[in-house]
Amino acid sequence: MSKQPAKKKSTADRTTRPRGMRDITGEEFYTYQGFFEKAAEVALYYGFQPIETPMVEKEDVFTSSIGESTDIVEKEMYALKSKGGESLVLRPEGTAGIVRAYIEHGMHTLPQPVMLYYHGPFFRHEKPQRGRWRQFYQFGLETLGTEKSIADAVVIRVIVTILQEMGIKNLCVRINSIGDKECRVAYIKALTHYYKKHLGEVCANCRQRIKTNPLRLLDCNDPNCQKLKEEAPEMVSYLSESSKKHFKEVLEHLDTADTPYMIDHTLVRGLDYYTRTVFEVVAHEEECDDTPDDLPDEATDDETPNEETTTPENEDNDETPPQERPDNQEETPKQLALAGGGRYNDLAKNLGSKRDIPSIGAAIGVDRIVTLPDFVPHHPRIIKKPKIYFIQIGFEAKLKSLEVIELLRKAKIPVLQSLSKDKLSIQLAMAEKKAIPYTLILGQKEVIDGTIIVRDMDSHSQDTVKIEELIEYLKKK
Ligand code: HAM
Repeated sequence: MSKQPAKKKSTADRTTRPRGMRDITGEEFYTYQGFFEKAAEVALYYGFQPIETPMVEKEDVFTSSIGESTDIVEKEMYALKSKGGESLVLRPEGTAGIVRAYIEHGMHTLPQPVMLYYHGPFFRHEKPQRGRWRQFYQFGLETLGTEKSIADAVVIRVIVTILQEMGIKNLCVRINSIGDKECRVAYIKALTHYYKKHLGEVCANCRQRIKTNPLRLLDCNDPNCQKLKEEAPEMVSYLSESSKKHFKEVLEHLDTADTPYMIDHTLVRGLDYYTRTVFEVVAHEEECDDTPDDLPDEATDDETPNEETTTPENEDNDETPPQERPDNQEETPKQLALAGGGRYNDLAKNLGSKRDIPSIGAAIGVDRIVTLPDFVPHHPRIIKKPKIYFIQIGFEAKLKSLEVIELLRKAKIPVLQSLSKDKLSIQLAMAEKKAIPYTLILGQKEVIDGTIIVRDMDSHSQDTVKIEELIEYLKKK
């Protein structure tokens, strides 16, 4: 059978961007640039250093850290094969690549902890909707190589400070501790036991989650399941002594640093690598209650006391159950997480590290911040609004143009120009439209004399200046 010719794509197919992705130009580009510069400045003041990892990583980096059965790994990764047959993935998040880099470069030999910041595009094949892009931008922080609670508090504080610097008001850190592997086994047993007793009252999704991913029962937004959720056993009651102590200390640090937070016993997050502290930052209309709930000293639910956490005969296996989403699925505007993060003490070993690298980090969703009504853009350093418009008349002057512009560039004087235009009137009109105070006019006569005309656009007065004296003349202006 002869091969059918490939159907010719319409022009519209070739001239539209992929779904869920954007072109960022003009003012919007400067907004993002300004965000990254300001956020990096705050991070640097707190001792974080820059890192940039590749935009693609080997697939295993993500599957063995984020978790095989999470939504990200199961459905959202942009996977590709290199020409050599290697399975690569467009990074859906930054943490796994950074831990990979820490291990690969033996960063454990550096003074610990290693504090890093990063920003750039990330890729998830999600359903595009408000605040959810397939290519989106994060600014992230990672502190690697310490289990100290102060490190958790510093990451949270810096994230909040960056958001405040961007003008975002009514911030609230929703925080929880999901303990470590051992305490979670006991908790999941208790949670499953509780839900099984109420099987008839829960939605179909929850019935499924009891089997596949019990922690996500806490993410359910179905109105019929809310009461049950409110009365469900709380993770905090199943925390081991050391996890509980850690959580208490983090909260104390947040109190001292005046960071608005609210304990949210239902916050579980959606990446499998988290241990102990998990948090999300939201902009709230209600008050953010910064009074810590009492952390009980003992388990309050009768199903599974804390002591059982380490017994191997626990009926559930000791694997962290999959959580399917990075942040809540059925979001209302108020719930949209502006940033999220947590501690990931086991991630490095999952990636093949021989040693534990206890770490904490978080990332801000930049696309969500820059569209908030409170957002105040920062001007990036790279744009200096030019005060000079360069005009040339005639071919000889065009030839000389680049030499003059380079002279100005070396003196750090930015100019606007329209070298492709020929007529003086058009170029003057463009300078006026942009409200540029001075124009430089180079005609054939000036080229021969080695001079240039400097015109004050307000007073219409003008001087003829020798080109070698131009910089000094302009600097005096
Ligand atoms: P995440 O919660 O998946 O965590 O993402 C962090 C933030 O990125 C979210 O709170 C949200 O603002 C933004 N975000 C996520 N997905 C999208 C999307 N499709 N479109 C627009 N914005 C989005 C992480 O990525 C972890 N790596 C954070 C972390 C760092 N944990 C420890 N260290």
